[in-house]
Amino acid sequence: MSRLAFVGLGAMGSRLARRLLAAGHQVIGWNRTPGKARDLVAQGLTLAPSPRAAAESAEAVFTMVTDDAALRAVTLGPEGVVAGLGAGAVLVEMSTVSPVVVRELEAPVSARGASLLDVPVSGSTITVEQGYRIADQIHSSGRAIVWSGEREPAELYWEQLNSAGLTMAPLEQS
Ligand SMILES: NC(=O)c1ccc[n+]([C@@H]2O[C@H](COP(=O)([O-])OP(=O)(O)OC[C@H]3O[C@@H](n4cnc5c(N)ncnc54)[C@H](OP(=O)(O)O)[C@@H]3O)[C@@H](O)[C@H]2O)c1
Repeated sequence: MSRLAFVGLGAMGSRLARRLLAAGHQVIGWNRTPGKARDLVAQGLTLAPSPRAAAESAEAVFTMVTDDAALRAVTLGPEGVVAGLGAGAVLVEMSTVSPVVVRELEAPVSARGASLLDVPVSGSTITVEQGYRIADQIHSSGRAIVWSGEREPAELYWEQLNSAGLTMAPLEQS
């Protein structure tokens, strides 16, 4: 069992977090509107008071939010995810955002001794529920997977994603 954090529990994030819970991981979550996470809390998710608090002590932190502005809001600043990342942790960014904002995260993530994995997700809420392998879809659609920082933790994390049936590992860096 891994201690994981999930920030952004909307249509996609809630379903992904549910799969991680079902795979036996400990999941600490944060959502801007906490009431939307009620069902997940009933399924074992623990709600944190801030993205930073969710990230603290997590081996890996997922972000799945609407757009560039939302990603900046949840990752940067004193209460953002990056401020809570421990050395060796992996930030797994899954939102559909511009590469510019992902690149902005590289230096601050790296300064914490953590790694960044950019995994934009294709498919839909239905494919997540059905457990299709997200990275298969990314691979076949030719989208890039980018990571920075220590390669080893990123690869380790791919294995954990596999155990939740979320993806396959490892893919080449684009
Ligand atoms: N739905 C799909 O089938 C699908 C498929 C592939 C990729 N995607 C991508 O996945 C991402 C999430 O999509 P979704 O369908 O899960 O959307 P969604 O249901 O609208 O959820 C969006 C999430 O982002 C949060 N959020 C938005 N603005 C924020 C801000 N300023 N600060 C903090 N949190 C903020 C929302 O919080 P609140 O709950 O408080 O509003 C919610 O948790 C998007 O980038 C989308 O393009 C979606």
